[in-house]
Amino acid sequence: MRILILLFALILFTQCKKQPNPPTGVVSKNAMVVSARKEASKIGSDILQKGGNAFDAMVGTELALAVAYPFAGNLGGGGFMVYRKNDGNIGGIDYREKAPLSAHKDMYLDSLGNVIPGMSTIGASGAGVPGTIAGIFEVHNKFGSLPIKDIIDPVIELVEQGVEVTAKQAARLEKYRDQIISVNGENTLFYNKCDAGDTLRYPALAYTLRRIAINGRDEFYKGETAKILARFIQEKGGYVTEEDLARYEAKWRQPIVFNYKDLRIISMSPPSSGGVTINQIFKMIEPYDIADFGHNSTKSIQLFTEAARRAYADRNFFLGDPDFVVIPLDVLLSKNYLKSRMEDFSFEAATPSGKVEHGKIEIVESNETTHYSIVDRMGNAVSVTTTLNGAYGSKLYCDELGFFLNNEMDDFSAKPGVPNMFGLIGAEANSIAPEKRMLSSMTPTIVEKEGELWMVVGSPGGSTIITAVAQTILNTYEFNLSMQESVNAPRFHHQWLPDHIVFETEGFSEELKKELESKGYHINQEPTPILGKVDAILVLPDGSLEGGADKRGDDTAVGF
Ligand code: DON
Repeated sequence: MRILILLFALILFTQCKKQPNPPTGVVSKNAMVVSARKEASKIGSDILQKGGNAFDAMVGTELALAVAYPFAGNLGGGGFMVYRKNDGNIGGIDYREKAPLSAHKDMYLDSLGNVIPGMSTIGASGAGVPGTIAGIFEVHNKFGSLPIKDIIDPVIELVEQGVEVTAKQAARLEKYRDQIISVNGENTLFYNKCDAGDTLRYPALAYTLRRIAINGRDEFYKGETAKILARFIQEKGGYVTEEDLARYEAKWRQPIVFNYKDLRIISMSPPSSGGVTINQIFKMIEPYDIADFGHNSTKSIQLFTEAARRAYADRNFFLGDPDFVVIPLDVLLSKNYLKSRMEDFSFEAATPSGKVEHGKIEIVESNETTHYSIVDRMGNAVSVTTTLNGAYGSKLYCDELGFFLNNEMDDFSAKPGVPNMFGLIGAEANSIAPEKRMLSSMTPTIVEKEGELWMVVGSPGGSTIITAVAQTILNTYEFNLSMQESVNAPRFHHQWLPDHIVFETEGFSEELKKELESKGYHINQEPTPILGKVDAILVLPDGSLEGGADKRGDDTAVGF
C-alpha cells in the first residue's frame, strides 16, 4: 500500500512538474491571433469570429501587418508558414523571396573581390523577388473558406482609416528616417516626422490591394502592379524584372518534425534553417535534465550555448535552398551524429568556436521580421514568420504602390567567410544563383504534446530567431512558466561565430556572467538590444488558449 501511495505521489509530482504556471497572458475560450500589432490581431480574430478558419485569418493578418507594421509586415517581402490542421495533418509553405534571373555569385563584390558595403542591404539592389502575395493566395486556394474579398476588404478599410502610430513605432520611424529619405528622396511619404498618436495613411496601398482583391495573385505577378513594380525597381538600380515576377511560385514543403521528450515539434524546413537548427539544438540537450539545472542558470546557459554553437556551425556550412543544394538531412538530424557532436562538451569549460567546425559528413552526391500565431475555434493552427529582412527592408518604398521592398539578397552569403548583417557566415551552399532562395533563420513552429496541439510559436530577430523560439518552448515545458511569462523571460544567444554569448540587458546578474567567463565563455560587452520578439499561443489543460504577446514590442493577443 505504502509503495502504491509513493508511486502515486511520484506520478503526481512529475505531472505537476510538467504543468506550466497558471496563465498570465490574455486567455480566450475559442480562438486567438497574436501578432506585432493590435490592429492586425483584431483583423485576424474578426475573420475567425465571422466563421473564417485559421488560413483565412492568416491572409488577413499578413496583409494587415503590411499596413499597421510596415517595419516588417509586407507585400514586398516573403515568409514561411507551418500549419497543423485539427485532424493532425501538418505542412508548410515557403513564400521566401528568390534571387532575380540576372543574379550571380559575385554580384555584390567589387573588382578586387571585396563585398561592396550596403549593396545588398540598402536600396533596390538588395531586393529579391517578393513572395508574400503568392504565398497568401496559395494558402487561401488550398485551405481558405471565406471569399478573398471578405478577407481583404477589412484590410482596405484599415488602410483608409489609417493606423495610429505607437510610441515604439514613432521611435523606429525616426531611427530610419534619414536612410528612408536618402533612398527615396524628399517626396517620399515617410519624409515627414511621425509622432506617437499621429495617423499613418497610405492611400496608394488601398488601390493596390483593391486591384489584388479583384484580379487575384496574378495582379501582383503579371498584371498592372507587376509592371509598375518591375519598372520602379529597375529605375532605382535593382534587378527584379517583369519576367522574374511572372516566374515566381510559392512552394509547399514538408516541415521538419522531431520529438523532444514527450513533445512533437513541427518547424520549417529549408530554405529556412529554423527547423533543422532547432531540431539539432533540442536533440543535443535532450539527454540532460535541463529543468533540474534551473531557468537561466549557469549550467542551463552552458548546455544551451554549446548545443547552439555546434548547430549554427552546421547551419552555416550545410544549409541552403534545397532546390539547388544537396543537404545531408539524414545525417545532420541523426541520433548518433548529434551525440558525437556533443562528445567534447563539458560543464568544466567552454568549447572555443575555433575548435568547432561543421561536422564531417561525406556527401555522396556531387532583424526585421515579424511573427504571428493563430488558432481557430476548430483547432486548426498556423504559425507564420514574414519579413522584409532589415528594418523597412531595403528602405526602398514604392510610393505608387504603397509598400516597402525587401533587402533579402543580404541573406545569401555574398562571399564565403564574410558575415552578413546578422554576423552569419555562409558557405557555398548559400551562395547566390539565379532563382535561388536565400537561406533563412525563420522558425515558425507548432508543438504537440501527447498528440494534441499544445503551442504555436515563432519570432523575428534574424539569426537569434532560432534560439528565441527554442528558449520559449523550454521555458514553458521545462521551467513551467506560463505562456506570457515564457515570452517575457530574459533571453540569451550564441551562434558559433562570433564566439560570444549575447545577453539581454535585463535579467542576468554580473555574478552569473563572471562565472561563465571563468569557464572560458566570452560575453558580448556591447549594449544588447532585444533578442527576438516572440508571439505564441498555448493550449491550456481546459482547452482555452493563453496568448504570449511579447512585451518587447506593441504585440497583442486578441481572441474570443
Ligand atoms: O530570413 C531571415 O533569417 C532574416 N531575413 C530574418 C530577418 C529578421 O528576423 C529581422 N528581424 N529582426
